Amino acid sequence: MNDLYALVTGSSSGIGLEIANCLAQKGYNLVLTARRENKLKELTNELITNYKVKVDYISCDLSDPKSPNKIFDFCESKGYFIDLLVNNAGYAIPSTFDSTSMEDEEKFIRVLGISVIALSKIFIPKMIKNKHGKIMIVSSVAAFAPPSSIQTLYGPIKTFMNRFNDALNINYNSKGITSTALCPGYTVTNFHNASGVQNEMDSVPEFLKKSASRIAEEGVEGMLKGKKVVVPTKTWKIVVFLIKIVPRFVFDFLSGVLAPGRYEELKN
Ligand SMILES: NC(=O)c1ccc[n+]([C@@H]2O[C@H](COP(=O)([O-])OP(=O)(O)OC[C@H]3O[C@@H](n4cnc5c(N)ncnc54)[C@H](OP(=O)(O)O)[C@@H]3O)[C@@H](O)[C@H]2O)c1
Repeated sequence: MNDLYALVTGSSSGIGLEIANCLAQKGYNLVLTARRENKLKELTNELITNYKVKVDYISCDLSDPKSPNKIFDFCESKGYFIDLLVNNAGYAIPSTFDSTSMEDEEKFIRVLGISVIALSKIFIPKMIKNKHGKIMIVSSVAAFAPPSSIQTLYGPIKTFMNRFNDALNINYNSKGITSTALCPGYTVTNFHNASGVQNEMDSVPEFLKKSASRIAEEGVEGMLKGKKVVVPTKTWKIVVFLIKIVPRFVFDFLSGVLAPGRYEELKN
């Protein structure tokens, strides 16, 4: 396993950091990437010490169109063969749709969508050559739900990513490549704080809040088994099942109770 590398985007905190830990524990060498170089350096040293695997990092902003190629060139120049590609980096925009600039929407779509497509496009040819490769797209339960009234494009881009995940499987399973959409529900990370909705999300009942390490473990296990979609934890599997079968008015009522503010019409 020594020459195999896993690339994890958004590994400076939260789910990405835990996925990196989980993979290192299983003996995978790692390339970490995110914007905060100090966090990447810290994690790199920790993983090398704890798990005796090879770890390197490249700091870059995935809202920059040049970043996916920069990451690929970095891996090529160092001779790292990416056998596992984990597309995890993400955030949500804290302002309403009408008050968010088009530039910020484009950056958002680039980080959560276009960079995922670009990285897959760049790394897949070598996986095809090697007849093996695994991709993970960290999506969300939001991919299955109606779009919420806050963070307008978040749900739609995650739904798009799930469809892209399906397309990767249809096109590349026969070539030894599988893609896994990891769809967590509420996970305790820096995400809600960074996205400006921590106050609203504080009222979500405790039984719905799951740890990033649990999400990472279920996600990595599913990816290594080649599962197409992983909804971690029984609780959120039930939620997704209900989202798919209950009428919209019941969904609106329940989400009003469990996550107030998310599905209500905007008030002037
Ligand atoms: N937390 C939840 O409840 C939840 C639920 C469902 C799905 N998710 C998804 O899980 C993924 C990880 O989120 P998280 O909960 O772990 O949040 P988090 O703790 O805030 O981590 C987000 C990661 O993405 C990186 N990132 C953000 N913007 C970036 C950019 N422009 N360029 C490069 N990297 C960037 C951050 O690193 P830097 O700031 O250092 O760049 C960080 O490492 C996201 O895709 C999110 O949509 C989260």
